[in-house]
Amino acid sequence: MIEIKVLVTGNLGYIGSVLTNYLIKKDFEVIGLDNGFFKDYAYVPRTKVSKQMIKDIRTVEIDDIKGINGIVHLAAISNDPLGELNPQITYDVNHKASIKLAKLAKDVGIERFIFSSSCSVYGSYQGGDFLSEKSELGPITAYAKSKVMTEKDLSKLADKSFCPVILRNATVYGVSPRMRYDLVVNNMTGHLYTKGYIEMKSNGMPWRPNIHVLDVCTAFYKCLIAPIDEIHHQIFNVGMNSENYRVKEIADIIASVKKDSEVKCLNLNPKDARSYRVDFTKINDILKFQPKYKVKDGAKEVYQSLEQKKLSEFEIAPYITLKQIKKLMNENKINENLEWIN
Ligand SMILES: NC(=O)c1ccc[n+]([C@@H]2O[C@H](COP(=O)([O-])OP(=O)(O)OC[C@H]3O[C@@H](n4cnc5c(N)ncnc54)[C@H](O)[C@@H]3O)[C@@H](O)[C@H]2O)c1
Repeated sequence: MIEIKVLVTGNLGYIGSVLTNYLIKKDFEVIGLDNGFFKDYAYVPRTKVSKQMIKDIRTVEIDDIKGINGIVHLAAISNDPLGELNPQITYDVNHKASIKLAKLAKDVGIERFIFSSSCSVYGSYQGGDFLSEKSELGPITAYAKSKVMTEKDLSKLADKSFCPVILRNATVYGVSPRMRYDLVVNNMTGHLYTKGYIEMKSNGMPWRPNIHVLDVCTAFYKCLIAPIDEIHHQIFNVGMNSENYRVKEIADIIASVKKDSEVKCLNLNPKDARSYRVDFTKINDILKFQPKYKVKDGAKEVYQSLEQKKLSEFEIAPYITLKQIKKLMNENKINENLEWIN
């Protein structure tokens, strides 16, 4: 069997730490590159990689990627609140550095470059119809805009020897060694466990597609092993049509995990106009990708993990990305450009 050596950037993050484990189990050799914002803790045990670079993606060099057969690029300022802290830094990390990495990959002959984009590129679609990969994009936040910019510039690099693949992931849930509680399913489950009820910050009407973190890993894996012709220069929405829900419906599903729990609608966030109901037919047709898990499975899994850990607070660093970054800044560990000091 040919050994496949994959670089996973952002491998110490929420998706990356699950993906690392997943790929190692599939006999890949995984090389990790991550700046380590979350490196000092593990919610559940984490699998170590054969080579770990603690490095800022903005400073990646050709020597970092020599001898690698494929790249899964996850490293990013990974959500809207953090992305708004300094939009220019968001563009530098998410767009400029991604394109720099892709160009280096092309220069050294790495063919597969799988980019972790997001369904949030669809922005705010007030109608209820399904949005496909061909639908118009409408990114609202710096985070979503940075994903669109990267998608466009990656496409320009595609040719016979370079195969960028863009995965527009639904919102992810489930347990990870680097747990995030700012994702909708995980967050609502945290409320259910700590308070016994669910708080919904918006009015509950926006559409959100959802996917389990292990199913996302399967999508990346399928792109790593698919014949190049099937994935070359393709964009895939990653999720399942029946797992598109209005936020209120997500809350109701999660509440059903615990007897007699109620859903409270706070309506605090009327400015959050993001809403997208997404069509996942293409990835199913081309890559035979069918997620295994549903929101209720994820809510039960996250709830059990909270019970095991007896976690009384979850909306704190390191579980909320923005709070972790602010903590590192307050401790003078990182500067306003999100670089380590020293
Ligand atoms: N979690 C989701 O619901 C979701 C949905 C769609 C797309 N995505 C995308 O998937 C990717 C991974 O998401 P995640 O949830 O695991 O996020 P995460 O924040 O948990 O992980 C990102 C990792 O990248 C690292 N990183 C940040 N800036 C860096 C830099 N300048 N140099 C090197 N490393 C850096 C962080 O330390 C972290 O370990 C991101 O690109 C994100 O935008 C996530």
